[in-house]
Order: sequence, then structure tokens, then C-alpha cells
Amino acid sequence: MYEWWQRGVVYQIYPRSFQDSNGDGIGDLPGIISRLDYLVDLGIDAVWICPIYPSPMADFGYDISDYRNVDPQFGTLADLDRLIAELHRRNLKLILDFVPNHTSSEHPWFQASRRSRHDPKRDWYIWRDAKDDGQPPNNWLSEFGGSAWTWDEDTRQFYYHAFLAQQPDLNWRNPRVREAMFDVMRFWLARGVDGYRVDAIHLLVENESLPDNPPNPDWHAGMSPARRLLRMHTADLPDTHALIPEMRKIADEFTARVLIGEASVPVERLKHYYGQALEGFQLPFNFHLMRTPFEALPIASLIRRYEAALPPGGWPNWVLGNHDRSRLRSRLGGAAQSRLAAVLLLTLRGTPTLYYGEEIGMGDVVVESDAVRDPWERNVPGLGLGRDPCRTPMRWSAAAGAGFTSGVPWLPIGGNLDERNVATQRDDPSSFLSLYRNLLALRRAEPALHVGEYREVWVDEQCLVYERTQDARRLLVALNFSDTSCPLPAQEPLRACLSTHAPVRTAEQKSTLLPFEGIILEPCN
Ligand code: BGC
Repeated sequence: MYEWWQRGVVYQIYPRSFQDSNGDGIGDLPGIISRLDYLVDLGIDAVWICPIYPSPMADFGYDISDYRNVDPQFGTLADLDRLIAELHRRNLKLILDFVPNHTSSEHPWFQASRRSRHDPKRDWYIWRDAKDDGQPPNNWLSEFGGSAWTWDEDTRQFYYHAFLAQQPDLNWRNPRVREAMFDVMRFWLARGVDGYRVDAIHLLVENESLPDNPPNPDWHAGMSPARRLLRMHTADLPDTHALIPEMRKIADEFTARVLIGEASVPVERLKHYYGQALEGFQLPFNFHLMRTPFEALPIASLIRRYEAALPPGGWPNWVLGNHDRSRLRSRLGGAAQSRLAAVLLLTLRGTPTLYYGEEIGMGDVVVESDAVRDPWERNVPGLGLGRDPCRTPMRWSAAAGAGFTSGVPWLPIGGNLDERNVATQRDDPSSFLSLYRNLLALRRAEPALHVGEYREVWVDEQCLVYERTQDARRLLVALNFSDTSCPLPAQEPLRACLSTHAPVRTAEQKSTLLPFEGIILEPCN
């Protein structure tokens, strides 16, 4: 009665950084295929791979110049077909990125569009005249710095881009654009892809009359310059919500497919991405854990707000890291905190998405300014916006190149390699990898954890305790967010099934929580 995307755990792969098979320092599809048994052993259910399509790589694949092929850096269509077959043979699902908001400026559609004002593809993008003084049509800002409008000298108009100038926004009000993009969706679904993570969905459509966005009273130096303005006319518009069920209809032409929406909106707005009758995305990403202080009270309150904001029957999901955010260990301030976060992520109600490398406790890697690759950091340097530090190569072993590449990696491998790698951690029962494997195995074995009800049992400044129940089975999760021990707030004798603190003493009766301990317990009788 539950779908695979409800029961399972999604593992996100940044393909440039997972496994290089040909020594060019960039990960690729054959590399991913060679690591599938690792993913089976880890215990995840679905793999989401960031864009692998042909791209000039201005935004490392999020600028697509051909929606129906694989970039030679990553391999071939045949490799992709083999990946689908190899995943399915192992009972794993494949989720690809679908990037509907913009193409690359090198996509043939945009090349045609910019050729002349009368080209049939002109209206596939958003072109507008300059103001009388030659300025852009309004004050809208690009997420990656500067105006969101770029002047085209040949045809003497501006085009709109929510991201880089090399990522012109498609005009989703044009029915021909919609049909073309729906056909792109069908192309990969028909090849056997199990679903999409739909990129930047909240930015899909803008206010057609182009009013200025108002200033953001909460902006301060140190924040992204794009946040100077509230995105009142460029994000989260009703016209965008109306298009989501259209995408869902395409996915529903095939069986058992999932759409995950990258909707970066407040908790209370997420319902618009599910649709009133759940006719939208099955899983609008919930990024709010990444923005909430890692403390018991704020997290408990977020869970309450989120659960209350879900539309009836809407399935929850949780994200703690991705290719756009600082890694857990660096963001939360240490290994103990990120181990605790693993228990939180994998015991909350709803589908978790786990970012590659978190399972071995990778942290952000310092990328020197002359080695920066991320266009955001290049455009807006020094504010810590750059995403290279969380996109560095997966560490398979302590060997040179970390077992990732025999060549020069596209981003640095970083320090602490001896300890933070798969080979070293594989047989160590106290390692990050063992913790994640045990958590994933327990989550899979216990319906209470993967589909059970959630109920808050206790929260104070130090710790949060909740229970997960399914039929007669009841498990308690106790999380100590502080650096001091505390008594376990429980009214009955409990024994541990799993703890962040090694050695994992299963079946031991517990009455104390150690600093930053996260523990899953069952009643003694
Ligand atoms: C992706 C980013 C990307 C942007 C533009 C996002 O939300 O996650 O990595 O740069 O969309 O496509």
C-alpha cells in the first residue's frame, strides 16, 4: 500500500565527483555503475543523479544544451541504459534531474531564439525591450549576482535569466515550450528512469507585467546580493503551481514514477507544490532542517509546523544536505553532531534524501581561490556562497586520488583522507559508515521507522524524544543536542536498538543520553 518512494531512502550523487573511470579527473556513468554494489551494501533504495546531459558546464550541468543525450564527459546514452538496467537488477531506482526553468544559452532553441525577433522560437524565452534610458526592464536580480537581464546587441532586447546569463529562462507560458519539455520528460521515463528531481521549480514562471521586486528589509551585507529583493514577482507564483499537475500527468503516463520538486519556499507554502488533491509533486523537497538551528526546541517546532502544513495524505520528506549546501560536519560543527543528524534524518516520518559522502563523514573541503570552479563563488566571491567545498570527490580509499580517480581530480580531495574514506571505515563498527549502514538496515527492517506514525514525546532545551509506531510496534528515538549528558526522559524501561555512540551496545537498558547521543530504543517488555 505504500509506494517505493515512500518507504525508501534516496541517495544523491553529484556525478562529477562520485567515481571517475577514465582518468580525466571527472566522475562518469561507468564509474557510478562500478560502485553500485557499494550502494546496495549501504542500504539505500533510489539514486538521484544531478544532470548528466550535454552542457557547456557553465553551471556544471544545470545549463543543458541537449535534453536528450548524455554529455561525453559522463559517458553515452548506452552507459545510461546500462546504468538503468544495473540499478534495476539490484532493485534500486533511478531519479534524474529535470531542469525546466532554463536551458543553456548554447541550446539550439536559444540559438534560434536570439537569431531574430521574428524567429519562431523567439517567444520560447523571455525577451523584453530596454527602458527608455536603456536600462533593463526592471530590477530583478540573478541568483548568481547582477541583473537578471542580459542585453542582446544583435536583436536589441534583454532576455531574462534567474541564474547565469548562460542559463536563459524558458517561457513556460508558451504552449509549444510546455509540449517540448513534456516530451523531454517522456524521453527518459520511456527509457526506464523512475522519476525526476525537478530543478528550481518555484522560479518557473514570473509576473508577466514585470513589476519591480520590493526591497527585502531583512537583507544585510554577507547575504547573497540576490536576496536584497523579495522575490514577490519572480518566485512561487500561482501560475507556477498550476503547471505542476501538468508535469505530474506526464509522469503518470508511466507506472510508479515519482516527481520530487525543488521548491525552496516556506513550510506553509509547500502545499501548493503537492496540489490540493495531491495532483502535483509527490515529494516537494523540504529543505527546512538545513535552515533550522541544530537544537532540540527549534527542530521539534519545525517538525510540528511541517506535519501540520502537509495537505491531507501528503507524504513528508526531509533533506539535510545537498550539492548546494555546506556539508553536515562543517555546518553543524563536528563529527558528533553530524552522527546525531544522521539518526534524525533517518528516523523522521517521510522520505529522506542522503547526500553522497555524508555516510563517511566528509566535511567541506577548502578550495583555494585559484581553484574555484563554481560560477556563484566566481561572481560573488568571499561570502561563502560557493558550492565547490561540498562537491569534492567521494573518498573510496586512502590512496592517491582517494580511489576516485587515477588522474587529477577536478576539485581537491581535501585532508583527513586516512580516516574519512570507505575502505578504512568499512569494517570499523564505530565508523560513520557503520552507523549509516546500521541505521539504514534498521529503518528498512522496521515499518515503524519507514512508514509509521510520528508522535513527539518530550522536548526540552537539551533533548528531543519522539516515537514511531506501526501497529503494535513502537520505537522511541531520543536525541541529545547538547554537549552534556542528561537523563533519558522516559517513563518506562527502554533498551537500545542502535546508538550513535560506539560501541553500539544493543539490547542494553538505557537511562542516560551521552553528549550528542542519538539513540533508537524499544520498550523492554
Ligand atoms: C540547483 C543548483 C543550480 C540551480 C540552477 C538549483 O536549485 O540545485 O545547483 O545551480 O538550480 O539550475
